[in-house]
Amino acid sequence: MAAFTEMAPVLAFILFLCLGATWAVDKGNFKTCDQSAFCRQRALKPGESPYRALLETMELTNTRLTLQLINDNNKVRLLLELYRLQGNMTRVKINELKPLKPRYEVPDVLIKEPPTELALLSQDENGVVLSLGAESQRVIVSARPFRLDIMEGHDVLMSLNSRGLLAFEHLRMRKDHQAAKEEDEKIEEGMWEESFKSHTDTKPNPSAISLDFSLPGVENVYGIPEHADNLKLKTTNGDPYRLYNLDVFQYELYNPMALYGVVPVMLAHNTQRTTGIFWLNAAETWVDISSNTAGKTVFGKMLDYVQGSNEKPQTDVRWISESGIIDVFIMLGPTPKDVFSQYASLTTQAFPPLAALAYHQCRWNYNDQEDVKTVDAGFDEHDIPYDFIWLDIEHTDGKRYFTWDPHKFANPKEMLQGIKDKKRKMVAIVDPHIKVDSNYKIHNEIRSKGFYIKNKDGGDYEGWCWPSAGYPDFTRADMRAWWASMFAYDQYEGSMENLYTWNDMNEPSVFNGPEVTMHKDAMHGDWEHRDVHNLYGFYVHMATAEGLIQRSGGVERPFVLTRAFFAGSQRFAVWTGDNAAEWDHLKISIPMCLSLGLVGISFCGDVGGFFKSPSSELLVRWYQTGAYQPFFRAHAHLDTPRREPWLFGPENTALIRDAVRQRYTLLPYWYQLFYNAHLTGEPVMPLWIEYPQDSATFAIDDEFLIKDLLVHPVTEEGSRGVTAYLPGKDDVWYDVQTFQKHNGAQNLYIPVTMSSIPVFQRGGSIIPRKLRVRRSSTCMENDPYTLYVALNQQRAAEGELYIDDGHTFSYQKKEYIHRRLVFSNNILSSNLNSDSQFITASWVERILIIGASKPSKVTLQTAGQESTIEFDFDASMSVLTLRKPGMNAGENWKVMLQ
Ligand code: NOJ
Repeated sequence: MAAFTEMAPVLAFILFLCLGATWAVDKGNFKTCDQSAFCRQRALKPGESPYRALLETMELTNTRLTLQLINDNNKVRLLLELYRLQGNMTRVKINELKPLKPRYEVPDVLIKEPPTELALLSQDENGVVLSLGAESQRVIVSARPFRLDIMEGHDVLMSLNSRGLLAFEHLRMRKDHQAAKEEDEKIEEGMWEESFKSHTDTKPNPSAISLDFSLPGVENVYGIPEHADNLKLKTTNGDPYRLYNLDVFQYELYNPMALYGVVPVMLAHNTQRTTGIFWLNAAETWVDISSNTAGKTVFGKMLDYVQGSNEKPQTDVRWISESGIIDVFIMLGPTPKDVFSQYASLTTQAFPPLAALAYHQCRWNYNDQEDVKTVDAGFDEHDIPYDFIWLDIEHTDGKRYFTWDPHKFANPKEMLQGIKDKKRKMVAIVDPHIKVDSNYKIHNEIRSKGFYIKNKDGGDYEGWCWPSAGYPDFTRADMRAWWASMFAYDQYEGSMENLYTWNDMNEPSVFNGPEVTMHKDAMHGDWEHRDVHNLYGFYVHMATAEGLIQRSGGVERPFVLTRAFFAGSQRFAVWTGDNAAEWDHLKISIPMCLSLGLVGISFCGDVGGFFKSPSSELLVRWYQTGAYQPFFRAHAHLDTPRREPWLFGPENTALIRDAVRQRYTLLPYWYQLFYNAHLTGEPVMPLWIEYPQDSATFAIDDEFLIKDLLVHPVTEEGSRGVTAYLPGKDDVWYDVQTFQKHNGAQNLYIPVTMSSIPVFQRGGSIIPRKLRVRRSSTCMENDPYTLYVALNQQRAAEGELYIDDGHTFSYQKKEYIHRRLVFSNNILSSNLNSDSQFITASWVERILIIGASKPSKVTLQTAGQESTIEFDFDASMSVLTLRKPGMNAGENWKVMLQ
C-alpha cells in the first residue's frame, strides 16, 4: 500500500498524459505551513521576545561588531555579528555561540563580501549606536529586548526583531519525554520526527530559525520567487509564501505555493526609497507578509489622510527557515538601481552568448535525426530564423544522460555538423538523476567514487525520476569538478562545440519522494539534505556551466538552462517550467519574469504553454509576447500535437514569422542590455524601477519595459484593444510601427488586430537594430546597423552600442566596442564609452530620427572627412531618415543637421 501511495504522483502524471486531464495541481501532494512542523514558529506572538543583548560582551573592530544575545527562557546564548559592507549594505549574522556541532552556512553563492568601516557613536546600558558611514546612517542595537533599528537621519529604514519574533532553536541531543519534562523542555509535536503522506522524516537536528523585519513607510514588496503570482507581493493571511524548490505538476496560478526555484531576496519600495533583504539560507523557508494598510481601499487611505490619522504605512515580514543560521544582507539603496548594484556585488549576472538571446525551438521531443533535419529545413522554407534546436530526454539511450539513442540519434556529430553548417546550434538535456545501471559508465564512476547522496542509513540514496536513479552530491566540489569534466569532447561522445546543455528536474525531482523531492534526512557528507535543499539545482547548474567553459579551454561563454535555481543562478538562464497552453499562463509569464528580474535573474521566459494545445490565436499572441521577453524559446509536452510555427496556416505563420523577425532585428539591443545587466545587476525587463516615484507603475502586471521599449502584449483572447500605461509625465513615447507620438503619463487605449504587438520607444533613447534578418544570429554578425533615435521634449536622445565577438570571454580583456551615442543641438555623435579594442565589419546603414524637423542639409564627419548625407523627411510623423551614412560602427563620427 505504501509503495502505491508513494507512486501516486507518478501514476497521476501518467494518467494525465494518457487522458489529458483537467488542469489542477494536486495540493494534497504539497505541504501547507500547518503541515510543516517547523512552521510552529508562526505561532510566536509579537511583543514577547525572550532575547536580550549582553552589551558587556560587545567587541568592535573597524569592520565588525560582535555581541552575545541570551534567550532568557532557556539561557542559550547566540552570537550576533554585524558588518558594514561596501556600497551601503549591512550584514547581520546570528548563530549559536556554542552549537553542539556546526550549523550550515551557505557557501559558493557570494562572489565577495568586502567589509568597510564601522564606528561606535555612543553606548549606554540600554544599547549601542553605531555609525554606518554613509549619509548619517546609524544602527541602534537595543538591549532589552534585543532589536536592531537602521536609521537615516530621523527616519527608521528597517527594524529587525522589532516585533520580537526572533527565534533560534539550538541544537541539542534528543531526550526522551521524561528527561525533557524533568528539564522543563518543551517537546513540540513533529520536532524530532514528522510524517507527510507515506513519508517519515527523521529529524536528528531540529534547528529552525526565524526573524521579523519591519519596513516603515513601505506598502510595496516584491521578489522572493518563484511563485505563479502577481508582481507585487500580497499580505499572507492564509499560507505564507513558500520557498522550497519543488517540481509541482500542473502548478496553480495566483497562490504562494513553492515552485521550481528560490531566490530569497525581497525588495521593499516606496516613492522615496528602495531597500532589499537577502536572506542567505538554503533550507525550506516560509515568508509571512503583513501590512497595516492591507485591505484599505484608496478611499479609506484618503479618509485617513483627511482625518489627519498619522499612522504611517508599514509592511512587516517574517522569515522562517527550517535550519541553518540567520545571515541577512540588508541593502539600503536608496534607489532601485543602487539595490541592484548592491546585490550584484554579492552575486553576479552572467553575460550570455548573443545567440542565446535569439529564438530557440524546443519540444519534448524531436524524434530522431531526420526529424531534426526536417524541422531545421522547415525554418528555412518558411523564412523564419532560429538559433537553437533542442533535444529533450528521449534523445538519450534509455535516459542515460551524456548518451544518444543508438537508433534515433545514431550519428549525432553528423546532425550537429548539419546544424553548424547553417550557423545554428543545439541544446541537449542532461538531468542530474543518474540511472542505476551497471552498464552505464556515468553511474559506475559516480558510485565507485562515492559521489552519490546517501540515505539516512548510509547507503546510496535512490529514487525514481524518469529512470530509477541515484542523485550525485553536487554540493561536493570534487563531484562538480568530475561532472564538469564529463562535458569534455572526448568524454561526451557525439558532442561538438555547438552543443549546449539544459538541466531539468534539478530541484531535485524525485517522483516517489516526499512532495516529489528528496527526503530531507538524506545526507550530503555531514549535512542533511534539509540544510542544502534549495542549493541543489544551483550546484547542478554551476557544475554544468563549468563543464561547458572547460571543454573550450576557458574560451567560450556557456549557455545552460536550469529549472531549479537559487540566489546566484543568474550566472545562467531559467524558464517558467511546466505551464499550460492557457491564456492565464501567458498572462502570468509577465509578473513571473518581472519578479525574477528584480532579484537578479533576468534571463526568463518560454513560449506556447507546455501542457495542452494552444489555439492558433493563443500561440500567435504567445510568440508576440515571447519575442519581447528575455528567454525566447518555444516548448511543448511530448503528448501535444506538433506546433512548429508553420503548422497553423499561412496567416499565422506570417504572424509568427513577423514576431520572430522583430526579435532578430532587436538582438543588438538585447545584447547590449544583457551586457549592462552583467555590469550593474539591473533587470533587463523592468517596469517600476524606471519610474520609482510613479506609484501607478508599482503593481502593473500586464506590461513591461525592455529598458527604453515599453511592451504591452496582447494577452486576452479575442482582444480588440489594450490599454497601456505610458509612464513619465515628462516623457514621450513613439509607436515603433507608426512612429505616432504619445505623451506620458497616460492610459492609452490601443486598438489591436492579430498582427499588433503594442511597443513604444521612449523619447530620449537611441536603439540599434539590424534589419537584414537572416537564418540565425550568427549569420547576421557583420550586418549593418540602423539607429532609431527617438527625441524627447528637449529634442535630445542618448543610447549605446555594444559589440564584441558574441560568444567568448574576450570582452573581459576589453575586446569590445562600446560606443556612447548622443543627439543634442541637432548633432548626433558616436564616441568611445570605454577604452577597448575590437574591430567590426558592421557599418551604419541608416539612421531614423523620430520627432525631428526637416533639415536643409545633413553632413557627416568621420576622421577629419566631411560628406553630405541623403535624407527623406516624413512630415506626417516627423521622421527623418538618413540614407546610407556608411560609417563603421566602431569609429568616432558626427552627423550634423542644418
Ligand atoms: C519536465 C520539464 O519541465 C519539461 O520542460 C521537460 O520537457 C520534461 N521534464 C521532460 O524532460
